[in-house]
Amino acid sequence: MADRYLSFTATAPGRFLTRRLGLPQPAALRRWSPEHPSLTGNLLHLTAGTSALDLTPVLARTGLPLGATDPAAVVLDATGVRDVDTLAEVHAALHPVVRSVTASGRIVVLGAPLDADADAGPDDDHHRAAVQQALEGFTRSLGKEIGRGRTVNLVRLTDAAAAESTLRFLLSPKSAYVSGQVIGVGAGAFVAPGDEDRPLAGRTALVTGAARGIGEAVAETLARDGAEVVVLDVPQAESDARRVAERLGGRALALDITAADAGERIAAELPDGLDVLIHNAGITRDRRLVNMPADRWSSVLDVNLGSVLRTTDALLAKGTLRPGGRIVATASIAGLAGNAGQTNYGASKAGVAGLVRALAPRALAEHGVTVNAVAPGFIETKMTAAVPLFIREAGRRMNSLAQGGLPVDVAETTAWLAHPASGAVNGQVVRVCGQSLLGA
Ligand SMILES: NC(=O)c1ccc[n+]([C@@H]2O[C@H](COP(=O)([O-])OP(=O)(O)OC[C@H]3O[C@@H](n4cnc5c(N)ncnc54)[C@H](O)[C@@H]3O)[C@@H](O)[C@H]2O)c1
Repeated sequence: MADRYLSFTATAPGRFLTRRLGLPQPAALRRWSPEHPSLTGNLLHLTAGTSALDLTPVLARTGLPLGATDPAAVVLDATGVRDVDTLAEVHAALHPVVRSVTASGRIVVLGAPLDADADAGPDDDHHRAAVQQALEGFTRSLGKEIGRGRTVNLVRLTDAAAAESTLRFLLSPKSAYVSGQVIGVGAGAFVAPGDEDRPLAGRTALVTGAARGIGEAVAETLARDGAEVVVLDVPQAESDARRVAERLGGRALALDITAADAGERIAAELPDGLDVLIHNAGITRDRRLVNMPADRWSSVLDVNLGSVLRTTDALLAKGTLRPGGRIVATASIAGLAGNAGQTNYGASKAGVAGLVRALAPRALAEHGVTVNAVAPGFIETKMTAAVPLFIREAGRRMNSLAQGGLPVDVAETTAWLAHPASGAVNGQVVRVCGQSLLGA
């Protein structure tokens, strides 16, 4: 179901009328394409406080020229902000330039991890913690007011090199629908991809629920990045799965992911191992709790959470997921904010976030595999086309970018998490929601 409001506001009369009526003004977002693979404009590097980070080599590799005029990207290094006085340097740095950031431009604020302050004396710890936490409120507020398709995100890091894949993603058109996020990047574990354009070359990726919708877009994007894709979907969707697989030069696997032996079947299908496992299959069976029979509860919990837990356990235990592997599960803002009529779905998706946070350190230490989640907001798919009109309109507009996301937005975020150079990104739940006002 096309977003007619978005098309209307792209016309001159539409813009005039909606502005006069004080209605939302969604900007046409610039997404990645082979013709336009990067932002067009300068990269402005600013600092607040005294920073120990060496960002120069990483920023040079974004390919964006450094410059102060009409920046398409601004990186504000605020890792050295330690007290209210140095926090004022955040204002001083961005206040004069924020207006000049181009449409669909990016602001990335860099902060320090909240729990690591090795060199501060015990007395000023809580001052530093306070102002580092303040960066989150700052980032999210600026994201809500900046408009024109521009995004604002915060990355907490200690090591610039380890954050390279994250900065390159956030400073590119691939992150068009990611805003208001706080992303933690650990130290070390940087692996340069052999081929920058095909970072997943030689790797195998399995995407569940990939016959259509978001899963299809994920499979397509991972194939673009060089992966050999396995398109898994239920036997009833086998012909669609085959069509997708053929188009992408991969293969289809007809399998209900809730089957008790699904993990074993996948392992048997992939005797040489798997590098990227994307848990995307998901269903909704909405009813308010008072009206919800047990089977609607259990089917949603089984597809969205039970099968994710079982197949993850099986594939890690069997060693099918190779060291350097990536698991990306699919949560939802409904799991973070809650949603009337979705106690089953909200529970399952919050469970996915819980799984990611608990398993991530262990999976990395024991198997060399990272575990993260994407949490989509309102994405234009068959699932959301079936939502009643007024709820659908509210879902589209109730975010800072005033529009729904596209499956490719979730796919690009997944591809960043699956990237060989993203080994220091672990245990994160990243919302792809245009900074939805729900659960913000
Ligand atoms: N569309 C949105 O706005 C949105 C928002 C938040 C989260 N999500 C999540 O994103 C994921 C994809 O959503 P979508 O909108 O593309 O949904 P969709 O319904 O279009 O596609 C889901 C796919 O999963 C498959 N599937 C369902 N049960 C399966 C099973 N037991 N085994 C194997 N495959 C199975 C379906 O056949 C289908 O092809 C889901 O996990 C969903 O909960 C979507």
